[in-house]
Formats: sequence, C-alpha cells, structure tokens
Amino acid sequence: MAIKKITVTASGIYDVLIGGGLLRFCGGYVKNVTEASKLAVITDDTVDALYGKIVTDALEAEGFGVCKFVFPHGETSKSAKTLTDIWNFLCENNLSRSDCLIALGGGVVGDITGFAAATYLRGIDFIQLPTTLLAQVDSSVGGKTAIDLDGGKNLVGSFKQPKLVLCDTDTLDTLSDDIFIDGMGEVIKYGMIKSESLFAELEQYTTEALRKNKAALDDIIAQCVTIKRDVVEADEFDTGERMLLNFGHTLGHSIEQYYNYTGISHGKAVGIGMRMITHVAEKNGMAETGTYARLKNCLDYYGLDINVEPAMSELAGACINDKKRFGDSINIIICSNIGTSAVKKMPVEAFFAMLSETSEN
Ligand code: NAD
Ligand code: GLY
Repeated sequence: MAIKKITVTASGIYDVLIGGGLLRFCGGYVKNVTEASKLAVITDDTVDALYGKIVTDALEAEGFGVCKFVFPHGETSKSAKTLTDIWNFLCENNLSRSDCLIALGGGVVGDITGFAAATYLRGIDFIQLPTTLLAQVDSSVGGKTAIDLDGGKNLVGSFKQPKLVLCDTDTLDTLSDDIFIDGMGEVIKYGMIKSESLFAELEQYTTEALRKNKAALDDIIAQCVTIKRDVVEADEFDTGERMLLNFGHTLGHSIEQYYNYTGISHGKAVGIGMRMITHVAEKNGMAETGTYARLKNCLDYYGLDINVEPAMSELAGACINDKKRFGDSINIIICSNIGTSAVKKMPVEAFFAMLSETSEN
C-alpha cells in the first residue's frame, strides 16, 4: 500500500507519513530531517520489547549513534519523576543541542518525550514514531507536549512541534482490542467535530471489521490527521478553533481523575465524555434531536459505550482544574449535529447546574 503524506505547516513544517513498514526504514527518513549525530530513543518497556531493536537497528544502519531510555508503560509514568530521569539520561549521554530525541510509543511516550525535547538545553529536536492508534491520529501531531500532576492531567507542558511523524500502521497489529478502541474514541471525535462523511464511514464498521481492513484503516487515520492538521494550522496555540479537539475531554479528564488515572484509559474516558456532553446538549436544546443516539450507537459498535460510577454532577467538581477554564468561565465544546462543532463559553456555575440537572437515564 502506498505511503500517505500529510504536511503540517505550523511554527515548524513537517511531514506525517502513514503506512505499513515505516519503522524498518525509519533511519533514512530520520536522516532526511536532522543533522544530529546522536539520537536518544525514548520508549516504554512494552513497546521496547516489540519494536526497540527494529528502530535502533534502522537508525544505526544510517550511521547515527543511538542510546535508549526505557520507562515502565502506563499513564503514571507521564510524571515529573520520569521527566527528570530522562533529562539526566540525556545529560549522561552528552546529547547536544544539535542532537535529536526519538519518541517510540503511544501518547504517554510522545507527550513526555516532546516535553523533554522542549526543555532539555532549552530545546532540541524530536521525532515521533507513534505506535498506538490514539497516538497516530492525535497525540503525535500538533505539538502539544505535557506531563501530569497529582492535581490533574497535562497540567505542565509546552508547544513543541516534531521534525517528522512516522505512523507505521503495521504496529497497530500488536495492540490489544482494548488499546485499539482507545484510539477509536479519538477517531469518532474527528467525525463528530468536523466530518459527517467520516462519521458515516465509521458507522459501517465494528472494531473487528476495521482491524481486518488495513486499507480502510490507513485511509481513516489519514482523514483524522488531515482534520487535525487543518485545525492546528488554523490555531496552533489553542486559543480558539483548536479547542474543538477537546470535545468530550472536560468530562473525560474528570473521569480519568476520578479513577486515579488507572481505572479507565484516556480514549474510553473521552468516549464517555463525548456521550455525556452530547446528551446534556440535546436536553438543553443545543444539539439536534437524534445526535446523542447516533453517537451512542457508534460508540457501541467499537465497544466504547461504557458506563461509569460517578454521576455527571459528581464529575463537575473536577472540571474546575480543567485547562479550558478561564477564571469564572469554562469553554465547552458542543456538537450541534454530527460533523458540526463550536466552542461555547459558559459561566462555571451554569455548566455545573446543567450537568447536575441532567442524568443520562
Ligand atoms: P499509552 O502511551 O499509555 O499506550 C497504551 C499502551 O499501549 C501502553 O501500555 C503501551 O506500552 C502499549 N503499546 C503502545 N504501542 C503498542 C503496540 N504497537 N503494540 C502493543 N502495545 C503497545 O497510551 P495512548 O492511549 O497511546 O496515549 C494516551 C496519552 O496520550 C495520554 O497521556 C493522553 O493525555 C495523551 N494525549 C495527548 C494528546 C496530545 O495532543 N499531545 C492528544 C491525545 C492524548
Ligand atoms: N488533542 C488535543 C489537541 O491536540 O489540541
């Protein structure tokens, strides 16, 4: 299958390449975008066992000096402690300002490696090799980097665009269904916010059917990256249009926090958040009748129609720390129908009241 190329023009210009087999040839692609002599591959233990050697071999074959830092997989590693360990590792291995970091893994690896690249020596280059569906369609593109604090997710971070993104879609074959469907949460989000035609295409599949159809999956990933590219180009620093990408995330982050970032994954929490906010929107006349049912059904096709313990009113409190809050107001993303979204600025109190007065039953 042909490799698809999408170019992002933001504070840095870079290509996102999508297709099978890219990791085996990553050395040549990396060589095209960096003058580095040393590369530090940052990855987690699960991804290292699967793809660490393929990547280091491919990079060394192009003459790069390669060192590798591996941390335990999972959201709890997206911490100040891991970041400090990465900084010290880079220092011990004498990475200089002309060298480059390689983020090999899912969104956790990408976010923390990007933040290490933004801060080490006041900024060095980095390249994204995303290996989860979520990272390929969302987190590896657009330059948001971060770590979590005890008080909430992604509360410390920066904007730092990568030099290149290689989405090797063969790596998705080793994902469990559970991790694959996390990415489907974000895929469905793109359909909801910007593309009725993408959403309608997604309605034709289930997780099992889509995983079997590699051509369709590559095409869907490219559609998502194109939407993300367009949004990022319009508003790189997240002051308007880019907030649309946070559809479902305000409640989603509260759900993740409620479960201490271990009980429920990001993609599933976003799925529930999208469903809840669309229900609230429809009940309050902000979304066309039927939007909620169509979203709920589509989430169901992918195993994402999940129930959680806390009621919406209980989640409201955690939204106070959300990055979309500005003083007494909060920006909520509402889809008035499938494919159409807008940012609504609301007093925090009014948002809380709306959540408290609406139950999903
Ligand atoms: P993750 O990085 O924790 O990966 C999920 C699991 O899959 C991990 O255990 C990992 O080891 C494993 N894994 C990765 N690739 C694999 C493969 N090919 N085969 C088998 N196992 C594999 O989680 P994620 O869902 O990729 O990303 C979630 C993170 O992304 C969250 O921290 C979220 O905040 C962040 N995020 C960031 C942005 C952004 O714009 N920067 C956008 C969305 C999400
Ligand atoms: N995933 C949200 C953003 O990139 O803005």
